[in-house]
Amino acid sequence: MEQVINIALPKGRLGERAYEVFENIGYGCPALRENSRRLIFESRENKVRYFWVKPSDVAVYVERGAADVGVVGKDILLEKGFDVYELLDLGMGRCRMCVAGVKGKRPNPELTLRVATKFPNVAREFYRKKSREIDIIKLHGSIEIAPILGMSDVIVDIVETGTTLKENDLEVLEEIFPISARLIANRVSYKFKNEQIQAMCRKMEASL
Ligand code: PRP
Repeated sequence: MEQVINIALPKGRLGERAYEVFENIGYGCPALRENSRRLIFESRENKVRYFWVKPSDVAVYVERGAADVGVVGKDILLEKGFDVYELLDLGMGRCRMCVAGVKGKRPNPELTLRVATKFPNVAREFYRKKSREIDIIKLHGSIEIAPILGMSDVIVDIVETGTTLKENDLEVLEEIFPISARLIANRVSYKFKNEQIQAMCRKMEASL
């Protein structure tokens, strides 16, 4: 007998786009379309249960098995190194992890580089490979302000349209890696609900 598949979706635009894909391939849950503040939705007919969670928490629910699968940005997977299976690149939510700094200004290569970021592990790994000494300044948002105020030399952050950088007189100095949304699965679920998860994955791949 088919079991219910628990799916963690990131609240926001990416989650809504991802849900459309699930809906199109037969995992719709009509209640989810109703405007409400509920966070859990189930369709008994389609054997799915959805959770709306904070984007950076999706992989936590999946890693701990509260969700069987989830949709998460590659940036979060690389930053936190979750123990989950990455099944599919959904090709949506595309952006780039970049180093950026004040327009026309280049950091002094002789000095320790002060790096403001929400992604300390990504930044550390990037500069470790270059054997560049850095001082990480961990922030939680509006990273772009740090180099403008002279608190950091550069930022390591996500660039999507480039508008935030442009409007704050910053520019991309280096690209670290491209980012897109991934379908991930819990390791145990992947074993015990293997056929169902694989079928979902195949349908999803075909629909992209
Ligand atoms: C992200 C990122 C940039 C911005 C880039 O921030 O940290 O600030 O989006 O997008 P753009 O290239 O299209 O301008 P987010 O919106 O997550 O807000 P935050 O500053 O609170 O992290």
